[in-house]
Amino acid sequence: MLNEINETVQFIQSMYATKPSVGIVLGSGLGSFADEIDIECEIPYSDIPHFPVSTVKGHTGKLIFGNLGGKKVVAMAGRFHYYEGYSTKEVVFPIRILKFLGIQTLVLSNAAGGINQSYKVGDLMIIHDHISMLTINPLIGKNEEVFGERFPDMSEPYKNNLIKAAKQIAYENNIELKEGVYAGVTGPTFETRAEYKMLNLLGADAVGMSTVQEVIAAVHLGLPVFAMSVITDVGIREEENTITHEEVLQAAKEAEPKLTLIFKQLIVQL
Ligand code: HPA
Repeated sequence: MLNEINETVQFIQSMYATKPSVGIVLGSGLGSFADEIDIECEIPYSDIPHFPVSTVKGHTGKLIFGNLGGKKVVAMAGRFHYYEGYSTKEVVFPIRILKFLGIQTLVLSNAAGGINQSYKVGDLMIIHDHISMLTINPLIGKNEEVFGERFPDMSEPYKNNLIKAAKQIAYENNIELKEGVYAGVTGPTFETRAEYKMLNLLGADAVGMSTVQEVIAAVHLGLPVFAMSVITDVGIREEENTITHEEVLQAAKEAEPKLTLIFKQLIVQL
């Protein structure tokens, strides 16, 4: 694992020598945030040694390096989900790479289903805590001390100072923000009606198929994390309508400008 990390980091540094200070993971339907970056280098995942290989056609993904608000950033356009068949180690491999490239903060976005009954499609939710709903912990196995300690504390996985700063930015720009608990599930099925209700009872405000494993790996690495969900559908509802991937992508697209503004200004302040 460590040899692989070193080889991957060396390869990336041979393509782009500048050290990024912020890592950004872009969620489903939220990829155009990359347009905000003044791009200096792009590396397709398929060119990077040891990077997980995408099995989905036309869904290759890439690392984007460049400037944003005076900061050197690296964005992952496309992430790896457990439901795609990647191992937990593969899902979090890029997060470890970003850390070893030098990032000091990790910012993540995702599309999520609304559980909290006051949430509407298009809402933004700051994640202030999470519940792992049967997602496999990526730290299971021999602990690599260079990553972090065996038993990481998870009392503040999402940094309060970053949450506070984001709320201030939203307030100044008249953007309504929710703040809540994200339940991470494996997917790929959306939840049954009974499961949405169960998640509500358990204290979740939103549910999604990413982020939790990445955040666990980031906390292990000692990286401060900020994460935000776009609510793309609502789980608990009386009507007979279904949830589709297309609906999720469309809702993410529509809410994206608000998310972009907050991410951008937050990164400027880091
Ligand atoms: N459930 C799980 N993952 C999701 C959802 C959902 O309702 N919406 C977007 N990602």
